Amino acid sequence: MEDSLVRETGMISPPMVSGAKPDTGHFEEFCLNPAPFLMRCHAECGEVSSFDLAGLKTTLLVGEDAHEAVYRAPDSQLSAAQAYQFMVPVFGQGIQYGAPPAIERQQLKIQAVGLRHDRMVHYAPIIAQEVRQWIADWPDEGEDDFYEKFTELTLKTSTHCLMGADFRASMSDEFRGLYHDLEMSVDPAGLADPNQHSEMAMRRDIARARLGELIGERVVQRKAALARGEEFHDMFQHYLDATYSDGTRLTDHEIAGMVIWFMFAGHHTSGNTSSWMLVELARHPDLMAEIVVELDQLLGDSEQVSFQSLREMPLLDAFLEEVLRLHAPLVTLSRRVMKDFHYKDYVIEAGDNVMVSPYVAHRQPEIFDDPLSFNPKRTFPDGPFAYLPFGGGRHKCVGNAFALLQVKTIFAYLLRKFEFELSEPAEYYRDIMPSLILRPSDPCRLRFRRRGR
Ligand code: HEM
Repeated sequence: MEDSLVRETGMISPPMVSGAKPDTGHFEEFCLNPAPFLMRCHAECGEVSSFDLAGLKTTLLVGEDAHEAVYRAPDSQLSAAQAYQFMVPVFGQGIQYGAPPAIERQQLKIQAVGLRHDRMVHYAPIIAQEVRQWIADWPDEGEDDFYEKFTELTLKTSTHCLMGADFRASMSDEFRGLYHDLEMSVDPAGLADPNQHSEMAMRRDIARARLGELIGERVVQRKAALARGEEFHDMFQHYLDATYSDGTRLTDHEIAGMVIWFMFAGHHTSGNTSSWMLVELARHPDLMAEIVVELDQLLGDSEQVSFQSLREMPLLDAFLEEVLRLHAPLVTLSRRVMKDFHYKDYVIEAGDNVMVSPYVAHRQPEIFDDPLSFNPKRTFPDGPFAYLPFGGGRHKCVGNAFALLQVKTIFAYLLRKFEFELSEPAEYYRDIMPSLILRPSDPCRLRFRRRGR
């Protein structure tokens, strides 16, 4: 924007955060760990602050009014698709933001319909079954890296619930390795340049192509099973049955992309939240004990955790809500500015990115009393733009209810069987962000002991 226009309209550019390097701006500091960097931006500049990600000017907006302005703006002004183009090689061309907007909207609707309430009732017992298998060979006591363990568990629960028992049973080491290569290609640096690490980009493309083949084989097998008269009610079947508004079905390439998209959206977000749940439970043994009493009263000796019983666990709910406040796994929610965006006296120019950060939003003392303390008994604000672990507006998480169901089922089962203790001093466990998703310190070791019942 020309200075003269700024003078005429009275609008100003947001303040620039200090510490930019001549060539790369704030890129290195951001990539090191976006969470403390964004806290610094807000502390230094307030509600609106700009920084430079190696040439991509980005503006962080903080506070209920600012979040509302971002979430109410149409996609034609603030585009998620343009901001997240780095995910296109991962999901595949023609899927989500690699597809034209009209197709992307229909694909998203297909995803959302697959997570409807009537499907969710089947998921709680499946998750409980996976948890049972997961802990079947645990010794009476021991110590382990629970980030690794939850990553392994939620890959199984996600694939089993969403993609079906046959898909889950066929999940080979090859599948896991390929999926891992896809994950490794996505990190904070990708926001500025998706092809930044050329070797990783190459491995990503090979992995995506091979995953497409493997999922394609599953499609063929599923069709053969259907022809034999078998019936399926999972998400995978939903993809096979779904049609676009013109009546055409998803291609095999699109089905593979939808599978990868959903696994990406749901796997680590739930796994990392479970890791932080366990760390906070072990940090707060009194609260853990209260939750175990709640679970015992509700479930008694039953091995089953039903969909209905999961709705009657207020202490577990409040604990999870507080975990998602302090450790919201998605720290940076970005949009590309397509037309100059005005907020209060500020103008953010077309071509820049804007960012909302649940991490920063959830640490605002005027909204959350004593924000850095972990307190599940706190009062949460009513407004939709203050507490944002699942985002807001038209791109709000469609897996929200499934994610809560999954984490609650895991803990409803796990806490009645085992008790947990931190292996390290409490302050060792911090928020780190080696990928685009927040997680606790690596390794994340805890001790466990079987409960005497
Ligand atoms: C604790 C777990 C989870 C958290 C914290 C979380 C958080 C989020 C957030 C913040 C967004 C919005 C991103 C943005 O505005 O840029 C989002 C979008 C999305 N999430 Fe989740 N999510 C979780 C689990 C899941 C699960 C389990 C699924 C699927 C089974 C899922 C599917 C999606 C999808 C498909 C979108 C894209 C929506 C769109 O493009 O409009 N999420 N999630």
